[in-house]
Amino acid sequence: MQLQIVATASRPSVHALTTPQHDVAAATRWFAQWNCYRAIVDHDWMSHAAIAATIRGRLLGERRMPFRVLDLGCGDADPAIRALEGTAVVSYTGVDAAPAALVEARQRLAAASFPADLVAADAIAEVAARADRGSTTDVVLAGYLVHHFTPDLKRRFFTDCRRVLAPGGEFYFNDIHRLPGTTRDDYLAAYVDGMRGWQPMEPEAFAATCEHVLAHDFPETEEFTMRAAADAGFDVSAALLFADPAGFHRLYRFVAGGLA
Ligand SMILES: C[S@@+](CC[C@H](N)C(=O)[O-])C[C@H]1O[C@@H](n2cnc3c(N)ncnc32)[C@H](O)[C@@H]1O
Repeated sequence: MQLQIVATASRPSVHALTTPQHDVAAATRWFAQWNCYRAIVDHDWMSHAAIAATIRGRLLGERRMPFRVLDLGCGDADPAIRALEGTAVVSYTGVDAAPAALVEARQRLAAASFPADLVAADAIAEVAARADRGSTTDVVLAGYLVHHFTPDLKRRFFTDCRRVLAPGGEFYFNDIHRLPGTTRDDYLAAYVDGMRGWQPMEPEAFAATCEHVLAHDFPETEEFTMRAAADAGFDVSAALLFADPAGFHRLYRFVAGGLA
């Protein structure tokens, strides 16, 4: 039986089961209080700094020609701005389903050095619609988005990201991951335990964050990610660019075949 760990500000306890569902409103509800996630990013508890710096290094080093970016689950766009500043980016489109995130993104992007555009939509439907109508981009970013989806939707999402990329395009994918041989319950117990080190955090914010993690986080293993990317048609060689010491926060770069 699959267990769900229900958190309190003090100690998580084990309760009944949860399976992933594609309920966008439920998955994005916690982001209505954007300052809670913002505090996590500001303290760098999910390795945003290293991930943004790694993406930026790759883009500065290898993508000198003007390029377009599609950022799926963009949040407040801060991670993307950090990754793109000073690069040859000529257009940025951020997609998110949470209105609070888009309000923050609009403000931050107003000061960015590149033109930007925001779309309020389900990222899964949006990337599929763009691919269906033959719209392309050069770089896709998806940061801490996909772990909310069912396994089938995760695979479909990878396929649509591949379809929307121009030849030689890059998919920078960062997300939480389960370690090999561990279950979701093992992951949740370890991750929530690690979250106790996220200090200072108000008890209410900690409880709300735990609730979101326990109800909506369905991380996969690296094996699943690599298989989904390969099945989608990406070149997956040398894909892992970053992993934190615990192995939870990971960044991959998958390349769409064809001429760069
Ligand atoms: C953990 S935040 C990540 C934000 C940013 N990409 C980052 O790396 O920090 C996840 C974001 O994905 C959005 N999101 C979740 N499910 C979504 C969906 N189905 N379609 C669009 N956005 C979604 C949430 O609203 C939230 O802004």
